[in-house]
Amino acid sequence: MKSIVILISGRGSNMEAIVRAAIPGARIAAVISNRPNAGGLAFAAAHGIATAVVDHTTYTDRAAFDAALAGAIDSHTPDLVVLAGFMRVLTADFVRHYEGRLINIHPSLLPSFTGLHTHRRALAAGVRVHGTTVHFVTAELDCGPIIIQAVVPVMAGDTEETLTARVLAQEHRIFPQAVCWIVEERVRIEGNMARVAGARESGVMISPPPEDV
Ligand code: GAR
Repeated sequence: MKSIVILISGRGSNMEAIVRAAIPGARIAAVISNRPNAGGLAFAAAHGIATAVVDHTTYTDRAAFDAALAGAIDSHTPDLVVLAGFMRVLTADFVRHYEGRLINIHPSLLPSFTGLHTHRRALAAGVRVHGTTVHFVTAELDCGPIIIQAVVPVMAGDTEETLTARVLAQEHRIFPQAVCWIVEERVRIEGNMARVAGARESGVMISPPPEDV
């Protein structure tokens, strides 16, 4: 059985998707938030999962916060640590400590649109496809070997809200999938690439579709 700790900062809908997936061989040992009022904490508690809060506002610097966070995480001896809408930048030491067992979901097709406000920036850039990425975390923000991505079309008339909703629906599909692959030990890191054993490959995606497609 693989032990998983999930870190959240807010609503926690991605954490919820992972919990609901009931991945065979995985046990969600704890959900930890840096915000005491994170909505996802109630869902976790209601599902019998241990919860904890490590409130970043009570620490004087990033290193002290990360050390406290690592202490809370490590008390559960996790095989995998999952950042599910965890909105704090982590120190290099923290990332190194969890090297190869720390993953994140980012709401863009990395390496495009690292950082914040990804959907707004995708609309402003006029891209025709957008999406979301699950990747291993490395010291550089929103970098690291990509495990899975989902692509969605950007449609005429999209607003930040409609595009966000379209991406979020796909996040709820690919994040549990990535966790499942890791639990099944099918994911191998090779340099800056993550290889997934036995993953199916599919054809081209075009947006907007030309008339003859
Ligand atoms: C998700 O869209 C996730 O990709 C994003 O925050 C949202 C959290 O939603 N993460 C980041 O922006 C990380 N830089 P959730 O709390 O409902 O899972």
